[in-house]
Formats: sequence, structure tokens, C-alpha cells
Amino acid sequence: MLQDRFGRTIDYLRLSVTDRCDLRCSYCLPARFKGFEEPAHWLSFAEIRRVVAAFAALGVRRVRLTGGEPLLRKDLPQLAASLSALGLDDLSLSTNATQLLRFAPALKQAGVTRVNVSLDSLDRACLAGITGRDAHTAIFAGIMAAKAAELTPLKLNMVAMRGVNEQDIIPMAEFAMQHSFILRLIEAMPMGASGRNTAFLDLGPVREMLVQRFALQPEVIELGGGPARYWKTPDGLGRIGFITPMSQHFCASCNRVRLTVDGTLHLCLGQEHSVALRPLLRQGISDEALQQVIREAIELKPERHEFNEAPQKIIRFMSQTGG
Ligand code: GTP
Ligand code: 5AD
Ligand code: SF4
Repeated sequence: MLQDRFGRTIDYLRLSVTDRCDLRCSYCLPARFKGFEEPAHWLSFAEIRRVVAAFAALGVRRVRLTGGEPLLRKDLPQLAASLSALGLDDLSLSTNATQLLRFAPALKQAGVTRVNVSLDSLDRACLAGITGRDAHTAIFAGIMAAKAAELTPLKLNMVAMRGVNEQDIIPMAEFAMQHSFILRLIEAMPMGASGRNTAFLDLGPVREMLVQRFALQPEVIELGGGPARYWKTPDGLGRIGFITPMSQHFCASCNRVRLTVDGTLHLCLGQEHSVALRPLLRQGISDEALQQVIREAIELKPERHEFNEAPQKIIRFMSQTGG
């Protein structure tokens, strides 16, 4: 078991397999971003598998593949298959869905059980405004392909922004319920081009509005391993999750660390604490020593983020750590 200084058990690894993306969502990646990692620094699939195996030996049961857009990493289903052979309890993917039509069946076959899809609006123009591209057709085809491939429960991640997509919250909830998807509303963190979070929307009042509209009741349920708090409709069929890093952070129950494509282990989404694993892997570190390095790295995990204390400071773009 991996335990940090604050008594938190770390059993969830988020694995960013590329920092590239085919979209440019305003809260994530600046339109003219140039600082992508060079390919020589990308961990190979064999290197990634070694790190995941070390985490699995230390008790990590859940792995989430993230990006950038993870499906831009060539042959991603091959990596997924090699990771699922490690016998994890949960292998999932966070994606923008533009490539899902092509990859959904192969992902399912490779042992990915479920996907979380970024979707901020049903409206083509609004969506294009946020993502910087007109990808509406590909995204919806991808979502339906994931549903058909039974990559479920399928969660829709909607970053709710004041004056941007607020008007889409109810239509998104209805769309999700119609398809048995789980809508999750997320407060924007200062990690993108819109870094200063001028469109920040406090989800407290939004939740009150949705509770009235859909007669929602709070639900104590584990639906994955993440920070969302869920509410359900009276018939139990509709669910909405709320992810509130800014108005009500959940760091005290944090269970995760992140590995980026360059082989850096990040101990917190919103802090700089990290350990570079790539040089060690390339110098031929043993499995035992790698596990020891990971145990020591967990000691560095900070208590919480400080987005509210230093909202001007963008530690990293979200595309680098994958959320
Ligand atoms: P499951 O609950 O296992 O389905 O996944 P998840 O919600 O942890 O993963 P997902 O990639 O869908 O992330 C949803 C949102 O939660 C994104 O905006 C993430 O940035 C945010 N998030 C996930 N983990 C953390 C975290 O540890 N800290 C903070 N501040 N935000 C997080
Ligand atoms: N704040 C909150 N959530 C974000 N995501 C990306 N950037 C941000 C941000 N700045 C979310 C997207 C994606 C998930 C992995 O992270 O909704 O689905
Ligand atoms: Fe964990 Fe850091 Fe996220 Fe807080 S901000 S939940 S400590 S990763």
C-alpha cells in the first residue's frame, strides 16, 4: 500500500500518454502553444508498462489513460492491452472522443472498461467556440460508438463556465439521461489559456437549480475513483456528478498521482512537486529500486492545491497532465 504523509492511500494512477491534442479547449491548451515534449523524451510502451507494474506491485488498482488526447498516441490499444494484462481492477480512458468512432471496439477488446468524454455543449457553434475546432460530428459519432461498444458507465465531463455554456447545462443533463450517460459538471481550474478563470462558475448554486429541476437526491456511491459527488433522480436512472476543485476542494481524500509522457511523476495536479523517472528507467534501474523511488516520491505529495491562493499562477497547462 502507498500511503502519504497525510494518511491518504494512493491507489489511482493517471497516465498521460501524449501531451498533443487535436482540439484547443480554452481552459486547457492555448491556441498557439509551442512547448510540446519532443518524441525522444516520450516514454516507450515498455517503459510505461514497467512503471505501471511497479505501481501495481505497490497496491495501485486503478489506471486512467489521459493526454492531451490519448488516442493520438499511436497504437494506444496495444498499450491498453499490455496494461490490462497486469490484472488491474479498473482501466479507463479520458478522451475528447474525436477518434472514438475508429477506436472504441479495439479499446474494449484491449480491456479498457469505460471512458470519460469531454463535452461542454450540445450546440455546434458553442462547442466550436470552446474547442477552437468544428469537431461536433466526429465527437457525437465517437460518443455513440463508445456506447455501442459498451465502454460504460460513460461519463460526460462538462467544464461549466459563466457566460459560455451555462445555458447548455439542462440540455446536457437531458441528453445524458436519455442515453444513460452520467453528466459531470466541473469547475474550471486555472490551467489553460483562460488561465485567470474569468469564466469560473461556482457549482453550488447550479446544483441547487438542478436539484429543483430534476428532484435530485444525494447519493453515496463509488462510480469510479474520482472526486465527483453524485446526485440521482427519484427513479435512480439519472445521475449528475459535481466536481468542485475551486469552491469545495477534495484534496483530503486525494488518492492519485500522475505520470506525464516525459516520465515525470507529478504528485499533485496543482503543485510543482515531482520526480523524474525517465533518467532512472534509461539508466537501467531495477524493479525493486524503482518501487523504492516511487515510495519516496509519495512522501513529497503536498496536502492540497493552492489555486485559490494564487489564481494568477499557471503551474502547467492542463494538456500536459491530462486533468
Ligand atoms: P473516475 O471518477 O474514475 O471516472 O475519473 P475522474 O473523474 O477522476 O477522471 P476525469 O479524467 O474524468 O476527470 C474529471 C475532472 O476531474 C477533470 O477536470 C480533472 O481535472 C478533475 N480531477 C480529477 N482528479 C483530480 C484531482 O486529483 N484534483 C483535482 N483538483 N481535479 C481532479
Ligand atoms: N479545469 C477543469 N477541468 C478541466 N479539464 C481540462 N482542463 C480543465 C480545467 N482547466 C477537464 C476536461 C477533461 C478532463 C480530463 O479534464 O473536462 O474531460
Ligand atoms: Fe489531489 Fe492535488 Fe487534486 Fe488536491 S489538487 S485532489 S491534492 S491532486
